[in-house]
Amino acid sequence: MSSSFGSPVRGELALPASAATGPVRVADRVTWIGALDPDLRTFDIILKTANGTTYNAYTVHGSDGVAVIDTVKQEFTDTFLAHLEQVVGYDQITALVLNHLEPDHTGAVPELLRRAPHLKIYVSPRGVQVLRALLKDDFDTYEIIIVTTGDTVSLGDRTLRFLTTPYVHWPDTQCTYLEEQNLLFTCDLLGCHFCDGRLFNDKVGDFRFSFEYYFDHIMRPFKRFVAQALDLIEPLDIDMIVPAHGPILRSHPREYILHYRRLIKSRLASEVGAEKTLLIFYVSAYGATSQMAYAVYAGAAETPDVRVSLFDLQGGEVLPFIDLIEEADGLAFGTPTINGDAVRTVWDLLSSLVDIDTKGKLGAAFGSYGWTGEAVAMVEARLQGLKMRTPEAGLRIKLHPTEDELEQCRAFGRNLAAHLTGRNAPREIDMP
Ligand code: FEO
Repeated sequence: MSSSFGSPVRGELALPASAATGPVRVADRVTWIGALDPDLRTFDIILKTANGTTYNAYTVHGSDGVAVIDTVKQEFTDTFLAHLEQVVGYDQITALVLNHLEPDHTGAVPELLRRAPHLKIYVSPRGVQVLRALLKDDFDTYEIIIVTTGDTVSLGDRTLRFLTTPYVHWPDTQCTYLEEQNLLFTCDLLGCHFCDGRLFNDKVGDFRFSFEYYFDHIMRPFKRFVAQALDLIEPLDIDMIVPAHGPILRSHPREYILHYRRLIKSRLASEVGAEKTLLIFYVSAYGATSQMAYAVYAGAAETPDVRVSLFDLQGGEVLPFIDLIEEADGLAFGTPTINGDAVRTVWDLLSSLVDIDTKGKLGAAFGSYGWTGEAVAMVEARLQGLKMRTPEAGLRIKLHPTEDELEQCRAFGRNLAAHLTGRNAPREIDMP
């Protein structure tokens, strides 16, 4: 179809002639019944999706039952149900497996349950909490089975086995393994936001960038949980990885697991040995916070076994710092107070830390001020919000530091280093 100007209508442009326009056979007894969303340009507010995404849902037919695995975003409910109805009657569905309850996978659940009220719902222990919120007063009217690693559901000659894999992406996430065919349904894990209706990784366009971009923004903050999930799935015989977004990985599926192993490793060459690392970032308006930063740096650098680095944020881009911060043991931020706030460059960096795990790192703030000096406490609160430990109360100095105050800064640096090396007793400060 073309617009009145002869150009393809947006969305249709993204769909090759061989795109899915109905249910698609994935393997014997397994059918894709999901939806394509080629026009999506932003996912979860923060992710760019240059060519959209897919919401993959599936049916698995056994001799004694049919399972639906995941559903789709609410606005694609009609498409999902139309696909579903082409492969199974509502009365034949015996199981609904919810591997993850974020709305992009559960939008069609309420309508499916209205049409198939007798199926059993299989969710993880954390998933049931979200399911209760989703179904509200109807929750108790359904048969809900909480499953954990090793639990199975029989569909007769087909068996689904569950693996509890939390935090890939939410606390509720799980994977489901079709034992007789070595298919692993992974929901968000090993997926990506890439819409190509040809569906299979050996048929679609080049999605390498999308796969890594998705990992960086969805999985990277939970790397240690991703590693645990990989530990669980790696021993399985896997002929196909069947995610809920993007291409189905039927060609060389184990390569994608190995790639995840590479992605969760350190991004930087390992040249820092057993030393603890402290990064000091600062911005300065009139040079006072800069003087403080150099003194904090000098004090911290006196401590053996701590490798200290100093960065002026006005001379750097935010993104390259993220890899460094991910592997640092401690972070200190220097900012003046301007109009009652920390400066934007500092906030830009701090807001970018949602993509990495900062839990347990040492955090500290310091800065010069002229009148009210709120910035240091605001940054400390943000560090605590990132689950960093802040054992050293923030250091504020009015206008330019005196020599005595510079010594306070050096002592501040020494103390931060001592907290990193364990020479200072651990403690948390109370925030006002
Ligand atoms: Fe695709 Fe975390 O939802």
